[in-house]
Amino acid sequence: MDKLPLEMAEQSYNKLTSITLNHLESLVGKDFISVDKEQFEKYGRDETEDLVFFPDVVVKPQTVEQISKILKHCNEQKIPVTTRGAGTGLSGGALPIKGGVLLSMEKFNKILSIDTRNLQATVEPGVINYIFQEEVKKLGLFYPPDPASWGSCSLGGNIAHSSGGPKAVKYGTTRDYVLNLEVVLPSGEIIWTGANTLKYSTGYNLTHLFVGSEGTLGVVTKIVFKLIPLPKFDMLMLVPFNSAEKACEAVGEVFKAGITPSAMEFMERDAINWSIKYAGEVNFAIKPEWEALLLVEVDGNNMDVLYSDCEIISNIMQQHECDEILFADTADQKASLWKIRRKVGEAVKSNSVYKEEDTVVMRAELPKLLRGVKDIGKKYGFSSVCYGHAGDGNLHVNIIKGELSDEVWNNALPKGITEIFELCKSLGGTISGEHGIGLVQQKYMSIIFPPHQLQLMRDIKKVFDPNSILNPGKIFG
Ligand code: MLT
Ligand code: ZN
Repeated sequence: MDKLPLEMAEQSYNKLTSITLNHLESLVGKDFISVDKEQFEKYGRDETEDLVFFPDVVVKPQTVEQISKILKHCNEQKIPVTTRGAGTGLSGGALPIKGGVLLSMEKFNKILSIDTRNLQATVEPGVINYIFQEEVKKLGLFYPPDPASWGSCSLGGNIAHSSGGPKAVKYGTTRDYVLNLEVVLPSGEIIWTGANTLKYSTGYNLTHLFVGSEGTLGVVTKIVFKLIPLPKFDMLMLVPFNSAEKACEAVGEVFKAGITPSAMEFMERDAINWSIKYAGEVNFAIKPEWEALLLVEVDGNNMDVLYSDCEIISNIMQQHECDEILFADTADQKASLWKIRRKVGEAVKSNSVYKEEDTVVMRAELPKLLRGVKDIGKKYGFSSVCYGHAGDGNLHVNIIKGELSDEVWNNALPKGITEIFELCKSLGGTISGEHGIGLVQQKYMSIIFPPHQLQLMRDIKKVFDPNSILNPGKIFG
């Protein structure tokens, strides 16, 4: 388990007393509170490696008023509160590392309204991303942010990290669809952060401050999302390359040619091989000489335009020495290719002890990032499986423990990661594109930000949460 930064040990909180437990039970009802260790096993984990931290109590509020009273009480008593969505996070953001109250938002699972007049929807944060997508689709509408875990991640969790996904390359991340938020502050006050309008120039934009704040500033209880019309058609192609770097070079050229694909995903050969083994069959064989594949999708309302886009993309890929391009002809083929792509993370996890980094650079610097990651791996003796959102310059680097000794793993890894992140910075990038900082990346924040800038963030946190009860020990310790 990772060691916690020193600053966290210095912050003191009060222990949960039976008075608090009784008070919480009287607020939410006895069926919605648990001190059962088996429950702690579930609520003490997310999808970040094998980390686990037990809370002192799991509470499942059902109303905003209950949350307001819970926060007010915990704030007065200086008891930590960690808000949790569906627990699919990849940076330890939802782990209750200081114990206290684990506030599960699972009962906030309603789509409250879909406004087809204004193309927007109001939802509760516990709604699962895919369920929301499917509901708006029935009305011809589209909510594009589609993390790989869309079948299980919650919209509130997506807000916490401004999650992206394959479609971010054309449509943007969660942030780009949030119009307004209802938030409960640690004081118990309930606010709306902005307005349900497409434009907003009315003081500081608190909505955008809350998106990506990883549950450290307040508890989101309602979300107003912008929606867009659902594109009618899409085309999907899988493009193999004998050189991973050439694949990365081709990515930038597509955008330079004036085409913005609706997805432009990169997978090294091992990533796709492991995922096929883990998640299912495909009707083509992965040739041993392939180093990487690009999964490219275009969408729109005019098939002729899509055919023409695909032709231009194919030409660019061929100029970068791709092997034969495979077009998905049927909905089933498309679904199976997307399934393979979406399952890569889980497949890697099931294969070996690993450490995942969420590097992001400017798109045209992607080949340099990939080369650098491999060189740093050679220097420190570790291999990596890389995949991710190439069109965004967002490369998920999975460093694999495999047969490495614990000593090499524990000593070399932090040095290697530091160098990878320094490389990201030198390429104009940063240390997380969509997984957030949470617990596991905070020790690297100083690579990106000078001390006074980190202090500025801490000061902002203090304004909202002077007793630091909300998700303590996250982002900057
Ligand atoms: C992905 O792109 O597959 C997700 O970010 C999940 C992951 O990296 O495990
Ligand atoms: Zn991703």
